[in-house]
Amino acid sequence: MITIREATPADHEVWLVLRLALWPHGSRAEHETEMEHYLRDPGLAVFLAFDSDSGSEPCGFAEACLRSHAEDCSTSPVGFLEGIYVAPDQRHLGVGRALVAAIERWAAAQGCFEMASNCLYDNQESITFHRRLGFEVLETLVHFRRPIPPSAG
Ligand SMILES: CC(C)(COP(=O)(O)OP(=O)(O)OC[C@H]1O[C@@H](n2cnc3c(N)ncnc32)[C@H](O)[C@@H]1OP(=O)(O)O)[C@@H](O)C(=O)NCCC(=O)NCCS
Repeated sequence: MITIREATPADHEVWLVLRLALWPHGSRAEHETEMEHYLRDPGLAVFLAFDSDSGSEPCGFAEACLRSHAEDCSTSPVGFLEGIYVAPDQRHLGVGRALVAAIERWAAAQGCFEMASNCLYDNQESITFHRRLGFEVLETLVHFRRPIPPSAG
């Protein structure tokens, strides 16, 4: 059976392991700074998923925030899904769906009427997952950058 609950400071290590799996480029210190914000700020939420058949460690997590605006949303604030991860051996069992349901309940309790999210344009797995959960796919943007050479100034 899958159970979902909000993370507490006692979950620090297991939550960090899941965060590093989803966002491996961040340093431990960077993750810990963000995690402190999540635990302190009532406008942020983190939920952990546990599968009763696979021990006491969480098999997934989801983080969300309140954003004043989100693409194509007509209400404010919007419950924004910042990140979601399920351990590879626990996928396709409904864990991700259960995590998003918990985020939705949290967002509704904060007065939200809409949820939004994003992912990289080539993360087909995540796009399919979002669609299956009822998210509409909006316009896709490609971001560009280039330095301004010193000679330009
Ligand atoms: C995306 C992710 C969270 C999905 O978790 P999950 O626990 O496998 O999802 P669920 O089992 O709850 O699936 C929910 C629905 O999405 C569908 N789905 C999930 N992954 C899918 C995939 N790879 N291909 C097709 N459909 C998929 C399921 O079939 C299910 O649909 P249904 O309930 O209508 O049958 C998981 O694959 C993951 O952690 N991926 C790596 C991290 C990532 O990309 N995160 C999102 C970007 S931040």
